[in-house]
Amino acid sequence: MSNIKELKSKFNEKYRNIVSDQKLGKPKPSIEKPYPLDVELIMLSKDFKVSGLSLLVAMQNRKSRRKFSGNKIALDELSFLLWATQGVRNSDNPIFRTVPSAGARHPLETYLVVHKVEGLQNGLYRYLPIEHALYCIEKEEAIVDKLKVVIPSSNPISMGLDNCAITFLWAAIPYRTEWRYPGMGVKVIGQDAGHVCQNLYLAVEAINSGVCAVDAYVQDAADELLCIDGQDEFTVYMAVVGKVI
Ligand SMILES: Cc1cc2nc3c(=O)[nH]c(=O)nc-3n(C[C@H](O)[C@H](O)[C@H](O)COP(=O)(O)O)c2cc1C
Repeated sequence: MSNIKELKSKFNEKYRNIVSDQKLGKPKPSIEKPYPLDVELIMLSKDFKVSGLSLLVAMQNRKSRRKFSGNKIALDELSFLLWATQGVRNSDNPIFRTVPSAGARHPLETYLVVHKVEGLQNGLYRYLPIEHALYCIEKEEAIVDKLKVVIPSSNPISMGLDNCAITFLWAAIPYRTEWRYPGMGVKVIGQDAGHVCQNLYLAVEAINSGVCAVDAYVQDAADELLCIDGQDEFTVYMAVVGKVI
């Protein structure tokens, strides 16, 4: 039986009487997954040199794009996309970002398959919003071949993978949300992810690029690619980005 009814507002009633871990005084989960101490951080600039494209034009032009030119995206442009999707607004308080999140819990981690980015070797990376930095998890020239296992050829976006520049893979750590809202993660994490990807759709318009959201992916292959356990952290959404023709 589908759990679609869990999207109804009555859903809240089911969980109203459950005492949250927050109310029980359990420690607040960290807003950013720790990273290995021995990695080299690639610090990104927030001094973006992107066009001043109006929001109106970005909204008007936004569409899902599946054909890319194969040209590289500049590191500065990638920095802008990362800031637009998860960037910290005020460094004094990293819970406030460029995107909203239920209870400012920000349950998503951002991983990147880097395929055509100036100044970055191909491979798998993770974004650190607090530091506004990246680190490389795995260097792999042919990383896009691994992506093709995650996004099967039956998916229309698969035709764009050889020429794409970056793929965003968002993984949820549901306890960040459920610590405050027990049982609600299934609803609000999807809502949070929607805000993130919509900002990406608008931001790419400002850098002459295109994006296509991806939901039809192979779950286990995605979690394996990201080296995450698929239980406490698992892939929930993706988006393929590239320079447009
Ligand atoms: C949650 C979500 C999942 C999607 N998954 C895929 C996908 O797996 N493959 C694909 O080619 N397009 C995917 N899309 C893109 C939709 O097909 C697209 O948004 C829709 O056809 C409307 O076109 P437009 O975005 O150009 O307005 C997805 C869009 C959303 C919002």
